[in-house]
Amino acid sequence: IKFMKNTDEILMNTVISTALKAGDILRTGFRQRFEVEQKSAHDLITEYDTTVQQFIVEQLSKAFPGAGFVAEEEHFSTKGDPLLVIDPLDGTNNFAMGIPQFCVSIGVFTGERQPKAGVVYNPVLEELYHAQVGKGAYLNGEPIHVTQEPLKDTLVATALPFKFRDKVDWITQLLLHVYPEVMDIRRLGSAALDICYTAAGIFGLYFEYGINAWDTAAGVCLLREAGGVALDFSGQPYDPFTSKSIVVGPSAHVERVLHLWRESGVQLEG
Ligand code: IPD
Ligand code: CA
Ligand code: CA
Ligand code: CA
Repeated sequence: IKFMKNTDEILMNTVISTALKAGDILRTGFRQRFEVEQKSAHDLITEYDTTVQQFIVEQLSKAFPGAGFVAEEEHFSTKGDPLLVIDPLDGTNNFAMGIPQFCVSIGVFTGERQPKAGVVYNPVLEELYHAQVGKGAYLNGEPIHVTQEPLKDTLVATALPFKFRDKVDWITQLLLHVYPEVMDIRRLGSAALDICYTAAGIFGLYFEYGINAWDTAAGVCLLREAGGVALDFSGQPYDPFTSKSIVVGPSAHVERVLHLWRESGVQLEG
């Protein structure tokens, strides 16, 4: 008898092995000499952002000739199935400054607006997060779940909108309304890992304004499979391709924070 692996499994295994190899490249380059440029104000790009993206797109287009790609460093061929949404290096400013908090993130879409699968790999800690819709979320093969602790006993991750400085006062207001209700705030510098940490119950909540599909797609799949919800600041379901803001966590925590924001009267946009 010939056993055929089903296509989902092949897709997952290929995306995982590609993320692991891409992570190896990042680990080898970390804290070595490499080129760094200013991409825009406050935002860096290194030679690793582009070479690792090239590597991932090459590997995955070989494996899946019909695939489409949305990747951060200007690689868009959105027609194709599966659609692979790639952040080759999430946490570039950390990587460039020698801070070991960065990852590779690959989200998989098969025709819908929401991710079907996601893989996030932190090569420094060798932590591999993966999920497929309906099959749970895992860290290095072990199931993960969002926290069951009350919000007041959790750390909350966020970021100031460093690329959208005109929004800083607004986001600071939102942050000040959350702060009294939580243990403390963290800004670790990798949106994909922030979402995975929330999926794993390390953070009780994560919110940010100014994220893109490549930052969130894989993480959001993990988060939902870990029992969490992803909304935008206006309370609508988070859409990786159109939402500008995101808030994730266990449903009760997300609802509590949205309630606090609504009560505060601060303007809320999705
Ligand atoms: C950034 C990181 C950062 C987040 C930004 C992202 P990049 O991605 O995830 O934590 O605050 O919104 O753009 O540019 O390092 O891939
Ligand atoms: Ca990113
Ligand atoms: Ca990136
Ligand atoms: Ca970037």
